[in-house]
Amino acid sequence: MVKLQNPDFDREFESIIKEIKKEILPTEEETSRGIKAKQELEKRLKEVRKEYPYLKYRFLGSFPRNTWIKGNLEIDLFILFPEETSEDDLEKIGLEIGRRILDEQEERFASHPYVHGKVMGVEVDVVPCYELKSAEKIKSAVDRTPFHHDWVSERIKGKEDEVRLLKAFLKASDIYGAEYKVRGFSGYLCELLILHYGNFKNLVKKACNWKRGLVIDVAKGREYFDDEIEALFVVDPVDKKRNVAANLSLDSMAKFVEKCRDFYLKPEKNFFLKKEAKVGVDLKNELKKRASNILAIVFERPNIVEDNLYTQLERAKNKLFEFLKTNDFMPLNAGYFVSQDKCMLIFETQVREISKIKKVVGPPFEEWVHVKKFKERNRPYRPFLENGRYYAFDWRRFTTPVEAIKDYIERYPRSLGKNISKVISNYELVEDENVINLKIPGFQEFLVNFLKLKG
Ligand code: CTP
Ligand code: MG
Ligand code: MN
Repeated sequence: MVKLQNPDFDREFESIIKEIKKEILPTEEETSRGIKAKQELEKRLKEVRKEYPYLKYRFLGSFPRNTWIKGNLEIDLFILFPEETSEDDLEKIGLEIGRRILDEQEERFASHPYVHGKVMGVEVDVVPCYELKSAEKIKSAVDRTPFHHDWVSERIKGKEDEVRLLKAFLKASDIYGAEYKVRGFSGYLCELLILHYGNFKNLVKKACNWKRGLVIDVAKGREYFDDEIEALFVVDPVDKKRNVAANLSLDSMAKFVEKCRDFYLKPEKNFFLKKEAKVGVDLKNELKKRASNILAIVFERPNIVEDNLYTQLERAKNKLFEFLKTNDFMPLNAGYFVSQDKCMLIFETQVREISKIKKVVGPPFEEWVHVKKFKERNRPYRPFLENGRYYAFDWRRFTTPVEAIKDYIERYPRSLGKNISKVISNYELVEDENVINLKIPGFQEFLVNFLKLKG
């Protein structure tokens, strides 16, 4: 019998929870560092007010809600602008204020630009947004944030550590964060799930049986299914049409369910601690055993925001994978890797070299018109019949995956994404053993994962 029950779960959970909390709850030192940084920010904002007397701001996100996890202290400061403000002014003044009050600042971009920096060593985001009357009439995604805070902050009181347990659990599995790179759970989504299920333990139990298409209406305390939903739909309590889990991929949802099941059957502390990625396998030997073909296209990283870059890489990866497939190289897997200054598209194919000759499928003999056309094509061999259908031998354009990839990049660079197409002409093709020898930080760990090695 397959064991899907753990009658001891509650007891086992309680016995490890104290120790887990020690690892993930912020220390008093960290909390007081946050409070001091916030006070310093307020002081600097007072200065700014001399020039902008109508300046309005709010502290939002996990810091004021007490739901950030140890070692991840970060303050989200929102500058609120009246609805009549032009987008240009909002951006200009918002960035200007961020630059004035932050140290070590850099401009970043979400749905609109904001400033990231530090105050007394604490990470701070300064985000300009509109102050609106209702979250249903927002101009950009950030304008919802004040409404989220107002809905969650009172309700979450007393449940902060439950949110932290969930965030740490997700982080350890690399599914915390809604950005495209992760396609996981945002902080706000974590808070809503805890409110809906009451606590982390109950969420784990329920999620063991989650199915795709699940709709969770937190405000109504209701759950139902919808065939149209690919993964999970969590109705935003402040905007009924909005899915808080819109960026959660089906596989991230499935990974969460898997982790919940494993944890439910055998609750252990290490579900909350990120394993140190270290490569404990001989990659060279692994590649030899597989006798497949590994191919990496390495090129300069375009200077664009992460979400945009990852969308294009995903697209480029899929295009090239399909091309390898239609040319009979039988790709097993495709992926991408991004470092500080480089991007890499990587493929593993089952075929490293294929015959020059291929077999082309023609029409069944009944289709006179098609048959005539098929037979009139100029080919090095004559067409022939097999089980009532025409076939013909012909030359292939490529006999190796490398040839195919080179040809594709040369002919269809545009299809690989707007910004990628501009830099990809200067690519380097690396094969097999040479791929393992690429000296890029984090790449070896990526390879272990890409090859699905047990680690
Ligand atoms: N936000 C945003 N754009 C940014 C930064 C933040 O829209 N550049 C919004 C997010 O949508 C979120 C809130 O600000 O509602 C806080 O964002 P974030 O810091 O990412 O998440 P937290 O909830 O604070 O969780 P944590 O920091 O603990 O991960
Ligand atoms: Mg935050
Ligand atoms: Mn933030």
